[in-house]
Amino acid sequence: MKTIVCEEPYRFVLKETETPVPAAGEALIKIRRIGICGTDLHAYRGNQPFFTYPRILGHELSGEIAGLGPETSGFALGDRVTVMPYLECGKCIACRSGRTNCCTSLLTLGVHCDGGMQEYYVMPVDHLIKADGLSLDQAAVVECLCIGAHAVERAALRQDEFALVIGAGPIGLGAMKYAKLAGAKVIAMDINEERLAFCKSWAPADYTVNVGNDPLRHIAEITGGDMPTAVLDATGNAKSMEASFQYAANGGRIVFVGLVKSDITFNDPEFHRKELTLMSSRNATRRNFEQVIDSIRGGHVDTDRFITHKSSFEQMIGVYDAWLKPETGVIKAMVEIGND
Ligand SMILES: NC(=O)c1ccc[n+]([C@@H]2O[C@H](COP(=O)([O-])OP(=O)(O)OC[C@H]3O[C@@H](n4cnc5c(N)ncnc54)[C@H](O)[C@@H]3O)[C@@H](O)[C@H]2O)c1
Ligand SMILES: [Zn+2]
Ligand SMILES: [Zn+2]
Repeated sequence: MKTIVCEEPYRFVLKETETPVPAAGEALIKIRRIGICGTDLHAYRGNQPFFTYPRILGHELSGEIAGLGPETSGFALGDRVTVMPYLECGKCIACRSGRTNCCTSLLTLGVHCDGGMQEYYVMPVDHLIKADGLSLDQAAVVECLCIGAHAVERAALRQDEFALVIGAGPIGLGAMKYAKLAGAKVIAMDINEERLAFCKSWAPADYTVNVGNDPLRHIAEITGGDMPTAVLDATGNAKSMEASFQYAANGGRIVFVGLVKSDITFNDPEFHRKELTLMSSRNATRRNFEQVIDSIRGGHVDTDRFITHKSSFEQMIGVYDAWLKPETGVIKAMVEIGND
């Protein structure tokens, strides 16, 4: 079978490898779609610390079951599936309390171990979710949308409260979508006007604010002086995360879904005066996957406009560099294997 290996930064190589055989509890998946995300782009550029090469990328995966080992009841050959790409230990304190998304020894496919940028992949069936009623494209954007859905779950958004989502990349867009579905009034903020326009039509965000244009005043005006009771930062920018404290209402919650490889500092008197709650949000759980699949099935998510770029498996190596450039208008790029 064909496999694309990231041999070192800026170098992919197409290789022929052995098709794996599923063991007990595992399925062989014919991979049909591979979504490309910021994490992959960082790995490709070599600015993902602790990342080792060679590595097979790919964690946003959909496909069809092409083989089953023993003890895999509930699945059949040909089933369309979405992959939950986080391998948890099942035993640690986080796993024991159902928080497998932050397992103490979590392995994410394509990051800590080889991922699915290959024609076939073997996966434990308890990490597969049937995606009946979804297209292959839709089944491959589930994981990315789950990150935002999980952040919204962390924020425990309520009907009609104001939620400010900072950062309008794929992760922030997912947060906006599930904040809207939770009934919140969504304010989208970014530095990029084109992305803000997309938020307004796609999520759809109720309001947009450009960070470059007196954001504090605009947000105060939108919320009638109250300020948003929930602030979700999905920028991956330390300055933005630090600034998020000033946008939150007294008694509000801040969720860092974007992450940075540095320290974050904040002013304790402001944090205390407002009695803020600060949370991080990591990955997603099965519950989030099921929620996102249901929302797509229910027609609540326009996945066609979310996927902006496509290529075949063979052509991917040639077009990948273009997907690194924001001026191409990329939101979600998708690699296709097969013709439908
Ligand atoms: N929680 C998780 O498990 C998880 C999973 C995947 C990705 N992430 C993280 O989420 C973050 C966002 O990912 P993405 O793929 O959407 O990234 P992206 O780069 O596509 O989007 C980030 C957006 O933030 C905007 N932005 C940057 N600086 C800003 C600022 N100072 N103020 C306002 N807007 C600003 C950019 O214009 C861009 O639209 C990254 O940090 C990524 O590592 C987290
Ligand atoms: Zn991702
Ligand atoms: Zn664990």
